[in-house]
Amino acid sequence: MKALILSGGRGTRLRPLTYTGAKQLVPVANKPILWYGIERLVAAGITDIGIIISPETGEEIRQKTGDGDQFGAKITYILQDEPAGLAHAVKVARPFLQDDPFVMYLGDNVIQADLSQFLEPFKEKHFDSCILLRRVENPSAFGVATVDESGRVLQLVEKPKNPPSNLALVGIYFFGPIIHEAIAAIKPSARGELEITDAIQQLIDTDKLVDSRLLEGWWLDTGKKDDLLEANRVILDTTLGKENLGILDGSSQVIGRVEIGAGSTLKNSTIRGPVVIGENCQLENCYIGPYTSIADGARLVDVDLDHSVILRGAVIDGIHQRIVDSVVGQRAKLTATPQRPKALRFMIGDDSQIELA
Ligand code: DAU
Repeated sequence: MKALILSGGRGTRLRPLTYTGAKQLVPVANKPILWYGIERLVAAGITDIGIIISPETGEEIRQKTGDGDQFGAKITYILQDEPAGLAHAVKVARPFLQDDPFVMYLGDNVIQADLSQFLEPFKEKHFDSCILLRRVENPSAFGVATVDESGRVLQLVEKPKNPPSNLALVGIYFFGPIIHEAIAAIKPSARGELEITDAIQQLIDTDKLVDSRLLEGWWLDTGKKDDLLEANRVILDTTLGKENLGILDGSSQVIGRVEIGAGSTLKNSTIRGPVVIGENCQLENCYIGPYTSIADGARLVDVDLDHSVILRGAVIDGIHQRIVDSVVGQRAKLTATPQRPKALRFMIGDDSQIELA
């Protein structure tokens, strides 16, 4: 069994962060989103992993993620020249996949569940495909399935205006080699992409066995800013430990589950967990509230911050107003004179500079 993680695409919905980097490398609880998927696959015993990358962001993904050693996996990178659809990505990966069964995992999804519970029935019952489904309130934003009472899939449609059910396709699919024939038989959709939903529909139309399972536990699709903040909240809530490798002065205090990386210094600051602070950060006169992640090398002075994600090397200095629900990109700078603005809500891209004068 192999795995194919899709980590190409353009990431338009997470702009401006994704102008300068891959959306799958945006950190949740200070760890790239993509790495959660790799860890889930390895935990289920799947270590032969292909990762689809794009020409724009592929090199960054390859450099950060490496050959898989750090995860106990063997990673093969596969270049997809343009984001021509999920089924197109499978086509491009054919030399890697050969005729092996595989799990396709969308690189911007994070799940809580253990994948092995789906793997066993897929292998034992010789399904041609198995998809994971979840009941959602906004099915039009997803692929949508209709299933019979045994879970067999009857119909699939991609982001329909009038959804036939509230069962959304989670971005994790199990396929036998027959999927390659189905992909060869489909044409690009109205939006010009080779859709994996059309390929699975092709399997259904030719009487192949397409099963479905309902996914339990949390599922986070990190496509947009609020999704990212929610993913950050859930992961800090469920997985964060307590470890302090930083240096705190006598007037700083840490309350609850907080992780602080080596080389970070805290002066006159209060941290109320769950919060993760990376390595070599400097915090002075700060209050950092729950559900905040601060990446390596960030510098925060006179900051009151809550429920936010601060990326590597960002600087926030002298904003005398509470910052909430915000994502601040790598090396972005927020500085202010001592006046008090009324309210602040940010989605700030890498290298931005904002000065409140
Ligand atoms: O998140 C679940 C949804 O994912 C499903 O319900 C939909 O049926 C499925 O089509 C997909 O929809 P999205 O709109 O979220 O797909 P997105 O374009 O964001 O691409 C998902 C991942 O695949 C993302 O990590 C980028 C990567 N990708 C995408 C395309 C179109 C590629 O690697 N190559 C591509 O050509």
